[in-house]
Amino acid sequence: MSVQTSSGTGAFRTAVVPAAGLGTRFLPTTKAVPKELLPVVDTPGIELVAAEAAEAGAQRLLVVTSPGKDSVAAYFRTDDELVKTLEGRGKDELAEKVRRAPGLLEVESVYQYEPKGLGHAVAQAGPALAQDEQAVAVLLPDDLVLPTGVLARMAEVRERHGGSVLCAFDVPREQIAAYGVFEVSDTDDDDDVKQVHGMVEKPSPDEAPSTFAAAGRYLLDRAIFDALDRITPGAGGELQLTDAVALLIAEGHPVHVVVHRGGRHDLGNPAGYARASVDFMLEHAEYGEDLRNWLNERLKD
Ligand code: G1P
Repeated sequence: MSVQTSSGTGAFRTAVVPAAGLGTRFLPTTKAVPKELLPVVDTPGIELVAAEAAEAGAQRLLVVTSPGKDSVAAYFRTDDELVKTLEGRGKDELAEKVRRAPGLLEVESVYQYEPKGLGHAVAQAGPALAQDEQAVAVLLPDDLVLPTGVLARMAEVRERHGGSVLCAFDVPREQIAAYGVFEVSDTDDDDDVKQVHGMVEKPSPDEAPSTFAAAGRYLLDRAIFDALDRITPGAGGELQLTDAVALLIAEGHPVHVVVHRGGRHDLGNPAGYARASVDFMLEHAEYGEDLRNWLNERLKD
């Protein structure tokens, strides 16, 4: 069954993208340009994430932003003048690229006025949901999960098990302190679908309950908003989405993960961003071969 046309419990219409952060790791650039608009080859990271949400059936992207970052939502507005100019010059391919983002899905924004953490950012989306939206997707724009398609798998798991479904990556234990980490057990469903019994934000490697880490894709039952209202500041003094998920689990709400075995890029820091750029560029029809040759030469030094 296609997620797009499904009216079952796995379906969702709104994808929330938290994008209110200061982008401190990209200063000084982020004084003027939100990090979500930095290009991977030629396309802003947030367009890649919006395309992934649309592909999984989302009809609306709710960007949680902060005053001064309005250019993130503005990026998704149509620009008929520019399209007309490009078409007039015979640059149809470029015109198509310009039309793509506004054509993906409806984009709205809500503000997070204070930087109180990811949980607080997601909570701002609650009032914008319609009464009949039983679930919402959350996509962290720092994370590229490749190939796309994990959200559709997560929606299938919610159809079967109900509750909330998150995406997990198996990461080396020495890196685990950067993530939300799951305590899991196997299901008889599928090796890569696991039941979650607990979740902890940024544990030390020796305290981490597993090496399965949250990878920036969440399909959350709307019960999450009530849980977000009840949590108190956690790791880093911030209101953590992880703590709201942990609260739901403690109260008997079913939570599962789909373990994604593909690739992942972290666009949230310059090193990860450079890797993603090189990876996408190497696959690019126009730039790939040149870059490969240059890199081969460069790496001989
Ligand atoms: C956030 C979440 C964390 C998750 C991570 C994925 O952390 O709080 O649970 O594992 O994203 O990238 P952040 O990277 O914002 O510190």
